[in-house]
Amino acid sequence: MSQGADILLGLQWGDEGKGKIVDVLTKKYDVVARFQGGPNAGHTLEFNNIKHVLHTIPSGIFHPNADNYIGNGVVIDPIIFCGEIDKLLKLEPDCLKRLQISRKAHLILPTHKLLDAASEAAKGKNKIGSTLKGIGPTYMDKTGRNGLRIGDIELADFLERYQSLKKKHLDLLNGYDFPFDLKNAEEQWMDAINRIKEMNLADTDVLIQNAFHSGKKILAEGAQGTLLDVDFGTYPFVTSSTTTAAGACTGLGLAPNRINQVIGIFKAYVTRVGSGPFPTELNDELGQFLRDQGNEYGSTTGRPRRTGWLDLPALRYAVEVNGVTQLMMMKADVLSGLGELKVCTEYKYRGEKIEHLPYSLDQELLEPVYIDMDAWKEDLTQIDSEKDLPNELKAYTKFIEKYTGVPVVLISVGPDRKQTLWRG
Ligand code: IMP
Repeated sequence: MSQGADILLGLQWGDEGKGKIVDVLTKKYDVVARFQGGPNAGHTLEFNNIKHVLHTIPSGIFHPNADNYIGNGVVIDPIIFCGEIDKLLKLEPDCLKRLQISRKAHLILPTHKLLDAASEAAKGKNKIGSTLKGIGPTYMDKTGRNGLRIGDIELADFLERYQSLKKKHLDLLNGYDFPFDLKNAEEQWMDAINRIKEMNLADTDVLIQNAFHSGKKILAEGAQGTLLDVDFGTYPFVTSSTTTAAGACTGLGLAPNRINQVIGIFKAYVTRVGSGPFPTELNDELGQFLRDQGNEYGSTTGRPRRTGWLDLPALRYAVEVNGVTQLMMMKADVLSGLGELKVCTEYKYRGEKIEHLPYSLDQELLEPVYIDMDAWKEDLTQIDSEKDLPNELKAYTKFIEKYTGVPVVLISVGPDRKQTLWRG
């Protein structure tokens, strides 16, 4: 591994299994840093038969030798964050020492959550399917230059700033027919703010630059996925941050020429939570099979995930947007015993065959074209060497590599740290 930062991110609509991989990789890194998103994320890690879900905290927190930064591009809900800390403290009493929070990260206010809910309710059947964690309104205030940042907590006039932003939000909420009660949430929020004040608040952009200069290995941990990126995703059914590799630069203060590897995580099939186009979606018993086998229920909201075949034009698009240098394929075990296996290799778009992701994935205009591949039946979850994988899965992997032009360096065959096969 040469000097610099590696980025790890999702290539689909999130939930690719980034948490597990960061956890597996962390022992190689000195710093793990989250660069965007917030409590809409749910990064699941499993080891010693315990499942852990992290929302805001970097997935390197379970490794005693890694420093963990929450970067400026992240939005923080103090209540959720402190709840996460409380759970962690029981397992990792030292975790706060290994955690640095950017003073430039923006705060999610209770009224941001109300605005999220009111706006979604007003959208009716066009709703985004937001996680309702206040993400959109918080990023709107950031770009609108109204937001409150973690560093503001330390200012003498923090409460005035809070009241002034809250008033703006209440005025906006008046425009919706949306009843709410703020008192409880506000009290909890203020308690959480007081706790955060005692934690390591830092200029993490400077910390990360110092880490780079002193030769430390840095891993930038993405949240959500490329197809949820505010620019390159399936707009407007996207999240409000830059989930792609560029977001690691703006969300951490990391210059592009300091990026080394870009590690792209994808599932051997595709899932999506929330609304929006999904060309290869399976609305039948095969889709239900994937949901059941893969336990495809949201780790943040518990919603059932939509499921479908692997979409190679979309995967290649994500590889290109991010400059992916290494692929990691997750949940290959879920496809065992499926009986049939299809993969989308091109689309019919306005009657023409194309191999790229067009401006609109509108179902009326776009139809996926599939090829059949040989399926495998074997249970993969106990396999501990890549050599022992079924030939059909090896052929599937090779096909993906050829299509995208990027090597698949790892195949995951189960949720546990141990169920991870490196390819030679
Ligand atoms: P928001 O980010 O909560 O506003 O949600 C916008 C869209 O992104 C919705 O379709 C969500 O379901 C989806 N989304 C947000 N975060 C995640 C995630 O971490 N995994 C998967 N989908 C997500």
